[in-house]
Amino acid sequence: MDGHEFVRSVRDLATRRGLRAARSAWRGRRTDARSLPARGAERARVPGSVAGVEPLPGGGVVRFARSELRILVASGGAVFWGWDGADPEPSYALAGTAPEADPRAQLEPDKDCGWRVVSERVTVEVSRHGAVEVRTPGGVVLRRDLPPRWWEPVRGGPARWVQRTEVAADARFFGLGGRSAGPRLPSGEYSLWNTDPRGSFGPGDDPLSITMPVQVVVADAGTHLAFYDNTWEGRVVLREGAEGEGSGHDRPGTSVLRMDGGPLRCWVVVGTPARVLARWSRLTGPAAVPPSWALGPQHARWGFGNQEEVRRVVAGYRERNLPLSAVHLDIDHYDGHRVFTVDRRRFPDLPALAGELRDAGVRTVSIVDPAVKAEPGNAVYDSGRRAGAFVRDARGREVRGEVWPGACAYPDFTDPQVRRWWGRWYEERLAQGFSGVWHDMNEPVSFAPFGDMTLPRSARHALEGRGGDHREAHNVYGLTMARAGYEALRRLRPRERPFLFTRSGWVGMQRYGGTWSGDVASGWPGLRASLALVVGLGLCGVPYSGPDVGGFDAVPSPELYLRWFQLGAYLPLFRTHSAIDAGRREPWEFGPEVLRHARAALVERERLRPYFVTLAHLARLTGAPYVRPVWWGAPEDRALRECDDAFLLGDALLVAPVLEAGVERRTVRLPRGRWYDTATGRAHHGPGQVEVAAPLSRVPVLARAGSVVPVRGADGRLELEVWAPVEGRKGGGLVVPDQGDGWARAEVERYATRLTKGRVVVKQIRGDGTAAPRRRVRVRGLP
Ligand code: NOJ
Repeated sequence: MDGHEFVRSVRDLATRRGLRAARSAWRGRRTDARSLPARGAERARVPGSVAGVEPLPGGGVVRFARSELRILVASGGAVFWGWDGADPEPSYALAGTAPEADPRAQLEPDKDCGWRVVSERVTVEVSRHGAVEVRTPGGVVLRRDLPPRWWEPVRGGPARWVQRTEVAADARFFGLGGRSAGPRLPSGEYSLWNTDPRGSFGPGDDPLSITMPVQVVVADAGTHLAFYDNTWEGRVVLREGAEGEGSGHDRPGTSVLRMDGGPLRCWVVVGTPARVLARWSRLTGPAAVPPSWALGPQHARWGFGNQEEVRRVVAGYRERNLPLSAVHLDIDHYDGHRVFTVDRRRFPDLPALAGELRDAGVRTVSIVDPAVKAEPGNAVYDSGRRAGAFVRDARGREVRGEVWPGACAYPDFTDPQVRRWWGRWYEERLAQGFSGVWHDMNEPVSFAPFGDMTLPRSARHALEGRGGDHREAHNVYGLTMARAGYEALRRLRPRERPFLFTRSGWVGMQRYGGTWSGDVASGWPGLRASLALVVGLGLCGVPYSGPDVGGFDAVPSPELYLRWFQLGAYLPLFRTHSAIDAGRREPWEFGPEVLRHARAALVERERLRPYFVTLAHLARLTGAPYVRPVWWGAPEDRALRECDDAFLLGDALLVAPVLEAGVERRTVRLPRGRWYDTATGRAHHGPGQVEVAAPLSRVPVLARAGSVVPVRGADGRLELEVWAPVEGRKGGGLVVPDQGDGWARAEVERYATRLTKGRVVVKQIRGDGTAAPRRRVRVRGLP
């Protein structure tokens, strides 16, 4: 506990809630001490020497003296291996059943008594002591997992294990879920335990609400993603490697993963970043496409106070001609902070308010917290008790935690029946007129002035009928809650795509919705952290996210607010939000100049709405996140791997936000090719670094030569903004028109562009042929 946290704990303890939280934390500790005895003596184990093999489709089993290793190369090129009999299933991450084995991949003897599986896209080599190497088809090593080591308690119980890995000296690590340091992850230790960081956080605060044992590793030799499918608590220490200048002795990059229990099994996908994410999305499920309105600007606040204030804020947007797509109501609209209730004194007629706003084009979104006030007479609690829905301890007593409404019980979302029971309550939200839900506090949180702010590790969970405790269920609590909410919304309102985003989650959460930063601190470092989170999550397969624009706490300076707003306008979830005791976040609260520039950002966001719709569909179809690191198309460019202050928005745009105070010019590192400054039309050439203007009125956005950006024209129709290709080079792009908020199949339009004799020619590709585009085309970038 650092000094800051200590002060906070003392302050928290001084309140009534603080005292209750302290009592609840002590209770949790006692329960764990009773139910989870110390591990006692342990026996260490390594696989030992190879003893035999059993070929199976896609690979086989390699037997060692003290363990066995199942290897499976799936069709599509994903590689699975599992020790000690671990299979791909059961898994919370996988989208359904595990992919089929590649029938051509076979186990064959290798040098030094090892074994290998060769497939079209990847080779897996297993040494006679159990090191597993993943190589490119050309034989270059991408990843070497050394023989693992287990520690088994002599008296029984889950085995801890450690997996050391080596990667190339030039490799860079990304991913691990939502991390505030990054997107390139610096050397250091990262926890795998979803955590509410106790108040607002900045770069380097770790862990946060979404941790994932997913690494994206980018090196000269290639890009790969490795996923250790295990939901238990763990930690990983990453060390970047170093190249031995002159000496020829490189120090490899390393990852040391330690897990407190659960299976040791790993998936690896190899290829270009686009291929890696495509396979990853096939494995863990396509991302939900938010309804189009959720790609527009949104405003939230904890502490709207009453429905008149909501009306006033929305009217403020309208009167100033500022587009607004949705307004979000936080826990203060609940009755006594109880989930699925409304404070009728302050919100006497929510359905009428929601209807009125909806007629004006503004949707309402409701917060949904998982913890249920444990109080007889609270309908949700009474019904949950009857359904046996709440998490219990080893002695069968309901586990209590402390959250906003006071003492709470926690639904066990790892139980399919509880998911259905919980889902029925979303009917109440829909009846209140809400169009979407915002899941919060689902790490899950139980306030505690010391220790972990969550449920006791010994708390029991159904785990889909297998049974287990919170050590295994904790990290998938938010994921399974998202599943409950998503499936409920699909059942209750089958003709509309659900809008759901969740603070906590795990691998596969994109199947149900998106996420947001959580309580990012209002300061320039927080602004930087919010970009790191969005890029990192996208690489883990979660494409829809965004920060609290302006930061969650305090009062941002007008300049900081504006720069945050300008960044947010290019991120999938574009939402202003702040805490109950923080300053306001309406764009007109920061003076006329900020208002003018914020309006420009909002207008540009709405102009780009068709592009965001396209990117949302493409994320589902191809796995490529909307927001990508600048190395996406050129992972071999080492300088791009280091770049953490810009990003690609789809294939066409490179956004270079301003992340520091007082900056009106900035350098931008460009990937190869010609890039146009979209504000000035000036052409720049990559690879390399250029300096561009970044006046307060806008952040630099560059468009790739030859690209096609679908935009909303002045008449509201979809137009194609085409950036002149380089003479002799082809360009093009994909467009997915908005088909409404239902389930109509995405129709992908393909366009090709080229420059001939100074003229830009745009063709739509249809079947085998081409035709003139039926949409209006605007050419940009010609002299
Ligand atoms: C924590 C969430 O991160 C924040 O966005 C929300 O305003 C508060 N909980 C209150 O519900």
